[in-house]
Amino acid sequence: MKIFLKILVGIIGLVLLFIIGGLVYINTQLPNAGPIENITIESTPERIQRGEYLSNHVAMCIDCHSHRNWEYYAGPLTPGTFGIGGELFSEDMGFPGNIYSKNITPANTGIKGWSDADIFHAITTGVTKSGDALFPLMPYPNFRISDKEDIYSIIAYIKTLKPIENQVKETKLNFPLNLIVRSIPKPAEFTTRPEKTDTVAYGKYMITLASCGECHTPKEKGAPIPGMDFAGGFKFVMPWGTIRTTNITPDIETGIGSWTKEQFINRFKTFDNDAAKQIVFKPPFDEGHFNTLMPWTQYAGMTEEDLGAIYAYLRTVKPVKNKVQKYSAEGATYMK
Ligand code: HEC
Ligand code: HEC
Repeated sequence: MKIFLKILVGIIGLVLLFIIGGLVYINTQLPNAGPIENITIESTPERIQRGEYLSNHVAMCIDCHSHRNWEYYAGPLTPGTFGIGGELFSEDMGFPGNIYSKNITPANTGIKGWSDADIFHAITTGVTKSGDALFPLMPYPNFRISDKEDIYSIIAYIKTLKPIENQVKETKLNFPLNLIVRSIPKPAEFTTRPEKTDTVAYGKYMITLASCGECHTPKEKGAPIPGMDFAGGFKFVMPWGTIRTTNITPDIETGIGSWTKEQFINRFKTFDNDAAKQIVFKPPFDEGHFNTLMPWTQYAGMTEEDLGAIYAYLRTVKPVKNKVQKYSAEGATYMK
């Protein structure tokens, strides 16, 4: 009996040591995304212009880091809030904690004290100036495989945003994600943006930068479900009910296989005007009348050429049969 007890105490001791060692490692050694690359970015007019395009209409920095007004269809951005952050991605919506987008304007409560290198490191590895790991809702896993030049342009542009003081609340992730998140950042692996003439490769590059898959690929425990790329069904619980992303694979019956390139481009371009940003959207909601998380009004600013390339790439992904019900009333709180 004594021996048994000794062994038991020994095992418990070892397990505890292991846990403590693990925690010390996670808290002192992680995140580890390699050294900060020592860069300064020259703000040329070309870069600022390209950065404005990418930040507002492709990489969607401004979409997540500004206020979206859900009184209007597709949540267009509230003018005067560009970059101020504070958008809440909450537990109620289905996220593993309460995650707030940050103030990325050059204000004291934003990124005024950050060097170009700090901003670049955060966007491409997910490690902030203070050494914290960002939750990958901030799509740094996509930005880390983009073309450096595109990120330089984005930084040149966000430095021109009007500084707005807005102290954003701290993100609180649930256990064990608050620990796991520290292991996600890794050094960036940049690529070269393919030539536009290489339409499919270029489309793949743009769809990655645009994070379409973040919403259109269903996930389980935060990881994309294998074989379900772009097959839809990922759900968000919003005050107006539950909304699921659609299947955008080339399956004829349940995806967008029957859409022509023109139909695809027009589906976006109908939102490329001021009137489309002012469609008042009121309850009651039902399957035929619901608000959408799909940032139509922001993506609408993409060029027809870029949308066409995304379409061309989507034609090449594996068609998946997956019928999605876009809307159901479960979780709706707007009547209360
Ligand atoms: C899908 C939404 C989303 C998109 C798109 C997005 N971000 Fe973020 N970003 C976030 C969230 C949420 C956080 C905070 C994450 C956290 O607290 O762990 C964040 C954090 C950051 C930070 C860290 C700031 C700080 O003070 O710690 C920077 C810088 C940043 N984003 C810049 C950008 C830029 C530039 C782009 C476009 C290239 C971009 N973001 C696109 C959601 C987004
Ligand atoms: C923030 C999440 C989100 C992102 C990011 C997103 N989508 Fe969507 N998308 C949705 C939701 C939700 C719907 C379903 C509701 C609707 O039709 O508006 C949708 C609908 C669509 C539809 C309509 C399909 C149909 O059957 O009517 C297309 C096409 C589409 N998305 C393409 C894209 C492309 C291309 C991108 C990237 C450029 C993208 N989406 C990025 C959430 C998103």
